[in-house]
Amino acid sequence: MTEKKKVAILISGRGSNMAALIEATGQADFPAKIVGVISNRPDAEGLATARERGLPTAVFQLKAFRDKESCDAAITRQLDDWAVDIVCLAGFMRILSAGFTHRWAQKLINIHPSLLPKFKGTDTHQRALDAGETEHGCSVHFVVSELDAGPVIARATVPVKAGDTAETLADRVLHAEHKLYPEALRLLASGQIKPIVGPPN
Ligand code: GRF
Repeated sequence: MTEKKKVAILISGRGSNMAALIEATGQADFPAKIVGVISNRPDAEGLATARERGLPTAVFQLKAFRDKESCDAAITRQLDDWAVDIVCLAGFMRILSAGFTHRWAQKLINIHPSLLPKFKGTDTHQRALDAGETEHGCSVHFVVSELDAGPVIARATVPVKAGDTAETLADRVLHAEHKLYPEALRLLASGQIKPIVGPPN
């Protein structure tokens, strides 16, 4: 097998998608491995999980830097130290600077809890219910400077059931996320996704 791609995961909270990626990449034939986890919050639950799995972790709090650009430049230095090839955002709740999204263009992916381009931003499950959707789901997409607007790599659909609340729907979508994110990473890491031609966004 060719050398595994080195992946870093950026989180802000619980880290269940991070855990799914760590689990999947632990398989011998997976074309990528996790080399580090970064959080913008020192109290992110996922940091403890990452440490338990023996992964290096780092915290970059925006308030410790002059501005977002210098914070994101410090994150890039850490990623370069780890010789990272691919960056996965997994519940990373801060909008990254355009400098960062350009630097990592086509190597930076995110999981979003809706069938993009529907329901960009937050509160996606309630908005799907309010809109009377019969199907909902999640998407893995390349990250560009515009929020949740980059090209979609993969989507998974779940039904909206009678009596669903935002919580029951979120649980169903999250279950799908845990399968979809490793599948999308596998596609990207194994070179099965063609680079997108065009100016960086
Ligand atoms: C997930 O629903 C993900 O789609 C969204 O934020 C949530 C993160 O959950 N971007 P977790 O931290 O991976 O458990």
